Amino acid sequence: MCSTRPPVCWTWTGCEDRRVRVDVVTIFPEYLSPLDLSLIGKARQDGLIDLEVHDLRDFTHDRHRTVDDTPYGGGAGMVMRPEPWGEALGHLMAAGEHGEVPHLLVPGPGGIPFTQAMAHELAAEPWLAFACGRYEGIDERVLEEARGQMPTTVVSVGDYVLNGGEAAVLVMVEAVARLVPGVIGNAESLVEESHEDGLLEYPVFTKPPSWRGRGVPEVLLSGHHGQIARWRRDERLRRTALRRPDMIERLDPADLDARDREVLTDLSELPDEHGRFDTNHPISG
Ligand code: ADE
Repeated sequence: MCSTRPPVCWTWTGCEDRRVRVDVVTIFPEYLSPLDLSLIGKARQDGLIDLEVHDLRDFTHDRHRTVDDTPYGGGAGMVMRPEPWGEALGHLMAAGEHGEVPHLLVPGPGGIPFTQAMAHELAAEPWLAFACGRYEGIDERVLEEARGQMPTTVVSVGDYVLNGGEAAVLVMVEAVARLVPGVIGNAESLVEESHEDGLLEYPVFTKPPSWRGRGVPEVLLSGHHGQIARWRRDERLRRTALRRPDMIERLDPADLDARDREVLTDLSELPDEHGRFDTNHPISG
């Protein structure tokens, strides 16, 4: 098992036989069917990700397969009963070899924010289990008990309220799975992405060189790698300053060179009110 890893794992050697196990417990198993598709579906076929979706109702014993009940103390909505959850988590843990347990992730708007850094941490773990709550949430005693049995984290994918945890699990599994070595063919494409180093990504262009009267920034056609890299960094800094000033505040000043500081102080070069970032750059075509 690998013990250390760099922030991006394409140089991470010795882990070729690594597979990540992911279990999802939900009352809507079909909701997770997008995980059969695209890169995640391929990673599952290739054996890089071993993903299993479980129906919470399979852990009920009444005729109506009931998973919810009214909240103690009153109030609107229903609460997920603890018994099926206790059985479902017990079923998952029973599958652990040598006492191995999953890291339990419970999506909820009251959780800690899911970030790219957390996606990297989770991608390095061998076994993740997601517990999708619905209605007003899961009886708190389930989480209390789980905390005594396995690492348990309540996670939010944003400051808004979803109807249940399933959409959040799709987001998290996609963000985590693409960081598992081997899932993305060209791992270099992970390097300059938004949120990888505290900056948003630069704008990208492809052929044709002129489209509906709009050209491509000249420098990108120059073949001058140094200038292209500098232009891209300038764009990342500007874009981040405009859209996410909170991220600029979190940058370490020691990581900024003289040109970086110039770009950030001369924000008159920021895009116009239509959000165009490159109006001050020579455009070809
Ligand atoms: N379930 C409901 N809202 C959620 C959110 N914002 N993040 C994660 N899970 C949720």
